[in-house]
Amino acid sequence: MRPEVHIFDPPALFQATAKIFTDLANQAIANKGSFSVALSGGSTPRKLFDLLADLPAGTIAWQQVYFFWGDERHVPPESPQSNYGMARECLLSKIPVPPENIFRVHAEEKDAAVAAREYEEQIQKYFHLAPGQVPVFDLITLGMGPEGHTASLFPGSAAVKETKRLVVSNRVEKLHTDRITFTFPLINHAACVLFLVAGKEKASAVRQVFEGPSEDVPASLVHPQNGRLIWMLEGVAAAELPSSIAS
Ligand code: 6PG
Repeated sequence: MRPEVHIFDPPALFQATAKIFTDLANQAIANKGSFSVALSGGSTPRKLFDLLADLPAGTIAWQQVYFFWGDERHVPPESPQSNYGMARECLLSKIPVPPENIFRVHAEEKDAAVAAREYEEQIQKYFHLAPGQVPVFDLITLGMGPEGHTASLFPGSAAVKETKRLVVSNRVEKLHTDRITFTFPLINHAACVLFLVAGKEKASAVRQVFEGPSEDVPASLVHPQNGRLIWMLEGVAAAELPSSIAS
């Protein structure tokens, strides 16, 4: 399935993304009574979360939404670095989502590999999966770094090559830290993957993504096998794309 590419300048970028999120949530809830979504971290999603938190009551039945994270830093939830902490501050603390619908990574665990294994088990349990089965998230949202990393799949890191596990700990040498991250087998099984990318510093990596798959640009390896791939790009982040790509 070809990627769906949309280019906007803020605030339209975030408004359009919030609309897609809302539509996907309501379709999933209408079809099967639930919506499973993995949120991305970093700073870009803040404005999206703010818009989702401000939706008129009843726009999304938050009681039927189940939140996960595509990656997490190896820090406790109260750390300013925590992706869960940012989502709690900007969104989760402002909507009527039951605590039992929130599946955060227990990244306070001193061994990141243990945290990753436990998260993988949480996901398999939520989706009622047997070992070896891969869950289908209704939506996985992703960001991208200037060098093309996504989730915590950084160029040259071991997790980029993972073909079996759903969630792993991943050593990110340049940041001198471990991360916990979804792997490509899990990401590429989603019903929909949505990249939300802003900032002119991302333009070169965006161009490289659309030039073709490469382990040097991990975001270029995201291609849901049976799902939608949506790129929501700020204008300056799409500046190096050929005009033929933007739909
Ligand atoms: C993280 C993210 C990461 C992020 C990119 C972009 O934990 O940092 O999941 O993949 O999406 O680094 O981050 P910005 O949105 O801050 O540019």
